Amino acid sequence: MTQPFTVAIDGPAAAGKGTISKAVAAHFGFAHLDTGLLYRAVGARMLTGEDPIRAAQNLVAEDLDNPDLRSADVAQAASKVAVIPEVRSALLDFQRAFARRAGGAVLDGRDIGTVICPQAEAKLFVTASAEVRAQRRFAELQERGADTDFDTVLADVNARDARDSSRADAPLAQAEDAVLIDTSDMTIDAAVAQAISAVEARRAGDRP
Ligand code: CDP
Ligand code: CDP
Repeated sequence: MTQPFTVAIDGPAAAGKGTISKAVAAHFGFAHLDTGLLYRAVGARMLTGEDPIRAAQNLVAEDLDNPDLRSADVAQAASKVAVIPEVRSALLDFQRAFARRAGGAVLDGRDIGTVICPQAEAKLFVTASAEVRAQRRFAELQERGADTDFDTVLADVNARDARDSSRADAPLAQAEDAVLIDTSDMTIDAAVAQAISAVEARRAGDRP
């Protein structure tokens, strides 16, 4: 398939967006962009003292290879730079061009179905309870050897969700035409299967 086909996957922190996006992209042979990494890369540069707007305007591919991007400090910094409209607008064209590349694309983030790609052919909103999401993120951080505890991770997740949902510019929100997938009580395999069938339904529906 060479026609563009955009799958927009949004939701709060640690809902399973990345896992589902990678599996959907692999299933359909689409490219995948984790847009959170763009904000994390800008956040990481801000933590080194750089102006976040300048960092967003000058972001380069190597910024996404920074091994610290998955840390809790960078996650908080990402959600702080993400409230700045000039940061968001500097990252817009790259995301839209990626979405419309030939052969199909999956983008995951907070505002893909609402602001970046309101015309996306398929939209999913992936969520789970804050406790379940914090438990998953805590397990991931522990596996990476981070020195933290569950209550700290839960507080971080809640703070980030609140900041993401309340900002004026492109807040975290479910698009009206997005399919809701609550992964709280679901295995990864079940969530992936539900996502693939939702995208398949849109592909079938788009055929004449
Ligand atoms: O991209 P996002 O932050 O939304 O989440 P993720 O990185 O895909 O998933 C966060 C963690 O939850 C990963 O360690 C996944 O393996 C895990 N997960 C899970 O246990 N059950 C699910 N249904 C989805 C994700
Ligand atoms: O993986 P997780 O869901 O924890 O976070 P992420 O997707 O890597 O996003 C990190 C932060 O970047 C979020 O808390 C948002 O503040 C911001 N972000 C955003 O504003 N818009 C996006 N499209 C993606 C991320």
